[in-house]
Amino acid sequence: MSEALSAGLPGPSTDRLGADLRTLEAYTRPDRPYTRRAFSDEDRAARRWLSLEMDAAGLAVTVDAAGNQIGRRAGRHAGTALVIGSHLDTVEAGGRFDGIAGVLAGLEVARVLAVAGQRLAHSLEVINFTCEEPSDFGLSTIGSRAMSGRLDAATASRLRDRQGRSLADAVDSVGGRGSALDTARRTPADVGRYLELHIEQAVSLDRAKVPLGVVTAIAAPSRYRVAIRGRQDHAGGTPMTARRDAVAAAAELVLLVERLARDAGRGMVGTVGVIEARPNMINIVPGEADLLVDFRGIDADAIAETLARFEAGAAELGARRGVAVEWTSLMRESPLSVSPEMVAAAETAARAVGVPWQRLTSGASHDANHMARLCPIGLLFIPCRDGRSHCPEEWAEVDHLATGARVLLELLLRLDRELR
Ligand code: GLV
Ligand code: MN
Ligand code: MN
Repeated sequence: MSEALSAGLPGPSTDRLGADLRTLEAYTRPDRPYTRRAFSDEDRAARRWLSLEMDAAGLAVTVDAAGNQIGRRAGRHAGTALVIGSHLDTVEAGGRFDGIAGVLAGLEVARVLAVAGQRLAHSLEVINFTCEEPSDFGLSTIGSRAMSGRLDAATASRLRDRQGRSLADAVDSVGGRGSALDTARRTPADVGRYLELHIEQAVSLDRAKVPLGVVTAIAAPSRYRVAIRGRQDHAGGTPMTARRDAVAAAAELVLLVERLARDAGRGMVGTVGVIEARPNMINIVPGEADLLVDFRGIDADAIAETLARFEAGAAELGARRGVAVEWTSLMRESPLSVSPEMVAAAETAARAVGVPWQRLTSGASHDANHMARLCPIGLLFIPCRDGRSHCPEEWAEVDHLATGARVLLELLLRLDRELR
């Protein structure tokens, strides 16, 4: 085992991390645990808490134009920063650990450095990214997208939720400046490396009883909004042969997504997470259905083939059923390979602190996907119980979180030493 650079430092505290988790789980919509959607009152409350904790950990807190909360510990040298990030927003009735684990691990690393009075050569930034999860504006990973230069002010003022509020206004509501979103953009010169710790959201680590995953590749979503327009008719009087039923067509589209992802293999998955039917009455043949479709994969060929088959299949079923099927591509991201150097660095850090690990790929996407446009990234996973996530039962052990934070700290110290 090589000498751990963190050997002389106190370990991350399970007590502090446990208390943080309990505090954050209380910032939820009371009627729907654990819901802390981005731009909500709960999100703002969690941000206020984080800001105080960052301050107490010796981090200088700022909020950029995208609303990203950034806690900075100045290094001995000006220039490139080492960044640890993730998100505090959740999905609807989601988890207490997705994203949260990564922000808390970064905060705890900062606390350890503060307690030990250790100054790094590079500045350290701990970031809570704005709205990693899907928003009501048809976009996710808003903070890291803006930071990596893929979301501008014009788009943020154009995208609207159902109430007509713009994404730019929503960003303002968490302390950002939507009209100046472009200024959130960072450059490769000022972000040297990006690290993220996350729960696995799949079952490999929990099943293998291995406390750490070193991620080698991250899947990316390709998403569609599909509008099906048939004809609204009487449910009693309209013969089965004369119907143009939008929900029957939607049902077929859902099964198309399932079949294409299954048949593609190579790790492809496909989900229809949202269906809205109108007018949604029991005695009416539905005239309209809107769906949101999410495909993910690690293999670029499998993704391209699946998306092409989906578009052809959607057109075919529309023509056959006499309904209009129109799809809009909401996003089409590329899967990401983590550089061999960053995988090796993470493995060296795990070995140095004596933590067993295994290599994994990530089916979920992360802020790391966007930060990879700026700099090499490293992604560490800790186990989550039964691989469950995006559900209220999502659970990770605080010991695993502390172990992950220990590896994160060691990795940070190694990168700080190696990076010019
Ligand atoms: C983020 O949770 C994702 O959808 O992968
Ligand atoms: Mn998530
Ligand atoms: Mn997440």
